[in-house]
Amino acid sequence: MLITAGPTFEPIDTVRGITNTSSGKMGYAVARAARDAGASVTLVSGPTALAAPRGLERIDVSSALQMHDAVMARVAKADVFIGVAAVADYRPKEAKPHKLKKGTGTVTLELQPNPDILATVAARKRPPFCVGFAAETENLEAYAAAKRKRKKVPLLAANLAQHAFGADDNQLILFDDQGRHELPRAPKIVLARQLVAHIAKLAFKKR
Ligand code: C5P
Repeated sequence: MLITAGPTFEPIDTVRGITNTSSGKMGYAVARAARDAGASVTLVSGPTALAAPRGLERIDVSSALQMHDAVMARVAKADVFIGVAAVADYRPKEAKPHKLKKGTGTVTLELQPNPDILATVAARKRPPFCVGFAAETENLEAYAAAKRKRKKVPLLAANLAQHAFGADDNQLILFDDQGRHELPRAPKIVLARQLVAHIAKLAFKKR
């Protein structure tokens, strides 16, 4: 199983960048749960303060482009891909090779879109079983169901970003072809084990 976790960091110059408040806790919990279920796990992790879990391979990356490349280099061997990372949608058009100096006027930062790693993996000719996460701050259900269709993934786990980011507990709604399944509020590791069990049922049912 190939899993992404954490935020990404998009450099503005040599000492500054754009990131988000993802702690990586949910992705790491999913990686642990997958490992405990017997999977061979590769965790592609953006910058987090979390220790590498034992018994799995962790690849450290920083930017969305690095995360994209690390995933693409390994996806052919994966049966399941779970995108838990909060990948930055945009990156500065150019990262300055020196520290920007302070001026007096306003500064404009031009941003360009990052590749959508999950959608790219899901669009492969023979994709692994793909699972997306959706962190929304409003209209959770409608946005999540639409996101599942747009990214063409069989399973999407939705949570409210303002509750999930950084916390030890979470609450998920899983969307798949059968409809919606609520996983009530619980520690992230408990939800991760339920999610992995759900994935195993869907991904390996025909084998
Ligand atoms: O569109 P949104 O960013 O809300 O989608 C979230 C899902 O897509 C997550 O599973 C996330 O890991 C994945 N994603 C990605 N690459 C991006 C943006 C999101 O893999 N550039």
